[in-house]
Amino acid sequence: MRHLIEIMDLSTEEIEELIATASGIIAHPEEYREVCRYKKLATLFFEPSTRTRLSFEAAMLDLGGSVLGFSEASSSSAAKGESVSDTVAVVSGYADIIAMRHPKEGAPMVAAMHSAVPIINAGDGGHNHPTQTLTDLLTIKQKKGRFDHLTIGLCGDLKFGRTVHSLIAAMSRYEGVRFVLISPEELKVPSYVKGEYIKSRGIPYTQSTSLEDVMPELDILYMTRVQRERFFSEEEYLRLRDSYILTPDKLKNAKEDLCIMHPLPRVNEISTEVDSDPRACYFEQARYGKFIRMALIMKLLEVRK
Ligand code: CP
Repeated sequence: MRHLIEIMDLSTEEIEELIATASGIIAHPEEYREVCRYKKLATLFFEPSTRTRLSFEAAMLDLGGSVLGFSEASSSSAAKGESVSDTVAVVSGYADIIAMRHPKEGAPMVAAMHSAVPIINAGDGGHNHPTQTLTDLLTIKQKKGRFDHLTIGLCGDLKFGRTVHSLIAAMSRYEGVRFVLISPEELKVPSYVKGEYIKSRGIPYTQSTSLEDVMPELDILYMTRVQRERFFSEEEYLRLRDSYILTPDKLKNAKEDLCIMHPLPRVNEISTEVDSDPRACYFEQARYGKFIRMALIMKLLEVRK
């Protein structure tokens, strides 16, 4: 039995295989409508979500399966003090696969140790978000046609942004990749992420506090929201929240084929005026999330069309 706790649980070959399956689903969705008939997905969301939970549910429904679950801890017995391990031990008796989001780093790993069915980490605190990374990789493949020889700018809250940590890990395995890390001093990429995936692999990177200065170099610009829910101080959040706001003016020196990504939700870090720019990929990125999750569910349940 396989779980997906972090993106590095998947080899590059397996990621290619998932992307090929997702591309097949995009092209011929009708061929996949029955592949998970009689299978059930449980979505255990101890933290808010729109895209991840609903795209997981849409994915299972489009594969012909069923869904059950809860969307907030307060409507589960976690509110009465039940542990993650007990919750999962019980729910794995009701469902064939579980997607779980939890505010505590490492909670999905604990869940995997007590589950009789595959566990998918749908985001754990400021740690990892592997299915967002699969979504990001499918978007990069669709838009750029490759993973190698790309200059990737990551901008905003690089400290608490779990999607950033998982994307750096995933992209660090491809040749010719270069990272440009754009953040205020207080929100830099944690040193463990930099050490494990960038420095130890000898990947070229630069750090900048200015988005405008580095814009012309970028093939991909990955914007992120300042993660209010992870700050200890509201004052600190308010001071940093408007550090980067992408506007049409700031894109004047950007490449013609720049791909602007964002895991969403956005607050104000991308002006809505950018939405009509052909380089804005973030809503399409969110749409791809359902297809790659369909491919992942099929892989972990070992079903084929
Ligand atoms: N990108 C993402 O994880 O969005 P949600 O929080 O809405 O699931």
